[in-house]
Amino acid sequence: MSKPHDKTATGSTTGSGSPAPSDRNSLTVGANGPILLHDVHFLEQMAHFNRENVPERRPHAKGAGAFGVFKTTADVSRYTRAALFQPGASTEMLARFSTVAGELGSPDTWRDVRGFSLKFYTDEGNYDLVGNNTPIFFVRDPMKFPHFIRSQKRLPDSGLRDNHMQWDFWTNNPESAHQVTYLMGERGLPRTWRHMNGYGSHTYMWINAAGEKFWVKYHFHTRQGMAFFTNAEAAEMSGSDADFHRRDLFDAIQRGEHPEWVLSVQVMPYAEAKDYRFNPFDLTKTWSHKDYPLIEVGTMTLNRNPENFFAQIEQAAFSPGNTVPGIGLSPDKMLLGRAFAYADAQRNRIGTNFHQLPVNQPKVPVNTYMFDGQMAYHHSGNAPVYAPNSGERSWADETGPMPDGWETDGDMVRSAYTLHAEDDDFGQPGTLVREVWNDAQRAQFVEQVAGSLLGGVRSPVLERAFEYWKNVDAATGQQIEDKVRSGMAPEPAEGMGEG
Ligand code: HEM
Repeated sequence: MSKPHDKTATGSTTGSGSPAPSDRNSLTVGANGPILLHDVHFLEQMAHFNRENVPERRPHAKGAGAFGVFKTTADVSRYTRAALFQPGASTEMLARFSTVAGELGSPDTWRDVRGFSLKFYTDEGNYDLVGNNTPIFFVRDPMKFPHFIRSQKRLPDSGLRDNHMQWDFWTNNPESAHQVTYLMGERGLPRTWRHMNGYGSHTYMWINAAGEKFWVKYHFHTRQGMAFFTNAEAAEMSGSDADFHRRDLFDAIQRGEHPEWVLSVQVMPYAEAKDYRFNPFDLTKTWSHKDYPLIEVGTMTLNRNPENFFAQIEQAAFSPGNTVPGIGLSPDKMLLGRAFAYADAQRNRIGTNFHQLPVNQPKVPVNTYMFDGQMAYHHSGNAPVYAPNSGERSWADETGPMPDGWETDGDMVRSAYTLHAEDDDFGQPGTLVREVWNDAQRAQFVEQVAGSLLGGVRSPVLERAFEYWKNVDAATGQQIEDKVRSGMAPEPAEGMGEG
């Protein structure tokens, strides 16, 4: 544990603990004279200040979070043996919410997907569920992820964000249609983090005590109710309070209003994945609730603000690769790519031993053969540093089929997923637009997409965007095209405006 600051001490100390001479005046030759090189306290202050940030997260840089507790209120032990999901279990946790594309100082209320990261400090190690406020994603192959994020960030020359670049990526990758539909709808502008749902998004594996496997999808439904901003409200808020969502969560918890979410899961028997009408591992698809109804698991309550934003939120490290017994990954290629990406980003962003920081430390004892490197704090004394050894220190020795494995066959290929009966890029977003939304929501959506396209999207991307939306829903696509064409500045007549 880190050593707390002694708030009762008089004066301050240097980093090495001796009394500091002054935090107000540097050491000079005479009151107006030059500063002396041996004012070590001053030099240390200057040098430390130069190192007081770490690189921001590449995606999801702007965010905040709070601590809380997850209580398992139902009995889902027939699906998983994970300790945190056994009836009556209560698990300390951390949540962090974020926007995806904006940088550390960007407004909380820009239209974007919101991150929904959870870390459960369980009796069997840390379990991280790193999801979003939408149940699906833009792409289904991790190879595309860096390209996707680059297209949503900034142009190489001006350093500006650019609608043309965003739409160029989306329309060149039609599997994005489902997620872009969500993004351009209400969920692209949640009113607060407390008023949005969270989703694991991917399909994960659950394994019960008998070793039976199931596929699951996580849904966290907000008990505060869903609420959204209009475009105008969000734009106003972006200018007047860029930290609105961060402030809202912190203030609510400080007032004693502890936000709650109910976790439910959809459970698919292992064998049904093969022939389900949608590929259940395709992250751009949802599972029908009629086919797989929600099963309640428990409640998450956020009840404690961080005491120190940098130490507990900026240095927090979530990874979909952090699983616990009873929970596994799945053949979702995106999830498999993510299982590598996060810890690697964190070694770069925070440091080699980021997992030793209090916010990232599991509450169970750690016996890892990863050691040394910058800022090593916990160590294994003089225990053997290699495995196998002659018995002084235990090591892992699993062999044979993996409890959380799945079977696979075939040649090594570079290929899209094989299609299931109803797989296509536009069917589910079409259903969302036609059957889930009402007229007002559809009208707002047309308004939003047209506004975005009018914000600098040029030919041929513009025509491709019309096609993209007509594929989702012919009438809605036509309305978008009409709205854009009527909002476009008329083409200058030939010859006009030329010298
Ligand atoms: C192959 C696809 C993806 C890759 C390679 C990837 C990579 C990353 C990386 C490197 C970070 C920064 C981690 C850090 O610095 O601590 C990050 C953050 C994040 N990603 Fe992803 N990501 C992918 C897809 C997704 C998907 C599909 C979701 C949601 C379903 C998601 C949700 C998040 C969230 C919520 C964060 C913020 C974590 C935090 O709060 O600290 N990402 N991602």
